[in-house]
Amino acid sequence: MKQIFSGVQPSGSFTLGNYIGAMKRFVDLQTEGNCIYCIVNLHSLTVPKDPALLREYTMQLAAMYLSIGIDPEKAILFIQSQVPEHAELGWLMQCTGYIGELERMTQYKDKSEGKDVVTGGLLTYPALMAADILLYNTTHVPVGEDQKQHLEFTRDVAERFNRKYGETFVIPEPMIQQFGGRIMSLDDPTKKMSKSNPNAGSYIALLDDAKTIEKKIKRAVTDSEGAVRYDKENKPAVSNLLTIYAACSSESIETIVNRYEGRGYGDFKKDLAEVVVTTLAPIQQEYTRWMESPELSDILKKGAERASALATVTMDKARKNMGLVTF
Ligand code: AQP
Repeated sequence: MKQIFSGVQPSGSFTLGNYIGAMKRFVDLQTEGNCIYCIVNLHSLTVPKDPALLREYTMQLAAMYLSIGIDPEKAILFIQSQVPEHAELGWLMQCTGYIGELERMTQYKDKSEGKDVVTGGLLTYPALMAADILLYNTTHVPVGEDQKQHLEFTRDVAERFNRKYGETFVIPEPMIQQFGGRIMSLDDPTKKMSKSNPNAGSYIALLDDAKTIEKKIKRAVTDSEGAVRYDKENKPAVSNLLTIYAACSSESIETIVNRYEGRGYGDFKKDLAEVVVTTLAPIQQEYTRWMESPELSDILKKGAERASALATVTMDKARKNMGLVTF
């Protein structure tokens, strides 16, 4: 049986990139293994947030997980900070990882570049991510392509720890989709679609209304060729839009390309907006219901209890093996 773990940061409006690259798959995986899905709010602190906003985003993300189809009877859904073992094992992982490894992470380089102030947490984030995964004897981690390097770090520190202190952790495998694993910005196809991009026109938020989605897709950059064709290297913007179309409609790229043969980008974009709106409409309806539901906090409390029961076992083993005195 697969042991599946993944997390999403409550750091803003969740994007179509988060959904296509990772979250959509979380739902299907519920029938393939034991799933643990986490709202990684400690990770959100790496770029300091207004506390009220962080609380709000946390509950919004919980509602979003449930709205896309996470079933709390099948999967464990919880908030990271409610299981303190994450922070504790995170420290042990910081003391197992090397500074050179952390400094090489491209996400750290991207997010720290040009910033006046960079927190220590931004650098050590992968150590906390390793702890998140390793606490649950995770065998599989569904993530977008941007997390590949962090997953490699997780595997490296887990193997190093096992070698130095004895068999403690299961070595996890990343599950990265070949198709849709990296959805790009609408305004710049060389950059990943990201919820913290200050230009809201660069991403489609899962809660954007139909008009906003139409407007954003209409303004999305394309190229001067005018042909709807998949060619990632020479037509990255159009290829990205085709990927979004295919992921939302579950059609093949070939079917879509054939449909728009001899037609311009106008028709293609109009239909793409409709496909995205149709995909998001049921999620948005469910979201409104969950945000008003008194069940939401109960689900998270029970989720944290179930997660704690598993996390304490691994934590205990890690403490003992590393030489921390336990009574
Ligand atoms: N553009 C993307 N394409 C495919 N997958 C993506 N993911 C994020 N962006 C894309 C995947 O979504 C999951 C949750 O991501 P996260 O919220 O934990 O953090 P992130 O990767 O840093 O995503 P963002 O949107 O860029 O957040 P901010 O702007 O806050 O840093 C992950 O599995 C991620 O790979």
